[in-house]
Amino acid sequence: MTDFNDLPIQAKGITLKDLLEESHKDLHLWFLLHQECLVANYESDALQALKNFQRILLFHLDFEEQRLLKHNNDATRWPVSVYQKEHDKIKRQLDKLIVKTQSYLDFSGRKKRHALISLIEDQLRFYHLLEHHEEREEQDLFLFLPEIPIHVWASPYQILLDSFSSFKENVVRKLE
Ligand SMILES: [Fe+2]
Ligand SMILES: [Fe+2]
Repeated sequence: MTDFNDLPIQAKGITLKDLLEESHKDLHLWFLLHQECLVANYESDALQALKNFQRILLFHLDFEEQRLLKHNNDATRWPVSVYQKEHDKIKRQLDKLIVKTQSYLDFSGRKKRHALISLIEDQLRFYHLLEHHEEREEQDLFLFLPEIPIHVWASPYQILLDSFSSFKENVVRKLE
């Protein structure tokens, strides 16, 4: 039976794989916004952007864990446990990055500049970890997605993104 909630997206031929890959791109853009705010010295915006990034990332990881990683998938090259372990590592590293960013904001002078250099190194390490994980998903896990109505992902995800849209608009206006 047709689920009418799905019609607009399905009519365009968009798949769940497309949407999850789009979400990976959203995450990269939020991380970039956080970094740009840091460089521009909009410190509270930088921290807020990182926290918004974390909310989106946790939503994304939770969907994958509940819908894609709960049961073994014999078709994938890598077992679901590999993906789950990467999720756990990503979450741990991000928690550390947030704590480090918060303490960076309290420093001043040379100490602050040195802390920024160290923070950027940690950001790159985290970013590579995330990118590597996403690449693995896009080349393996997402090729064998179970049948899931698209709106199960798309509707709550859009609500989450919308809740950050005015923050994003304001920050982008300041940065331009
Ligand atoms: Fe994932
Ligand atoms: Fe993912």
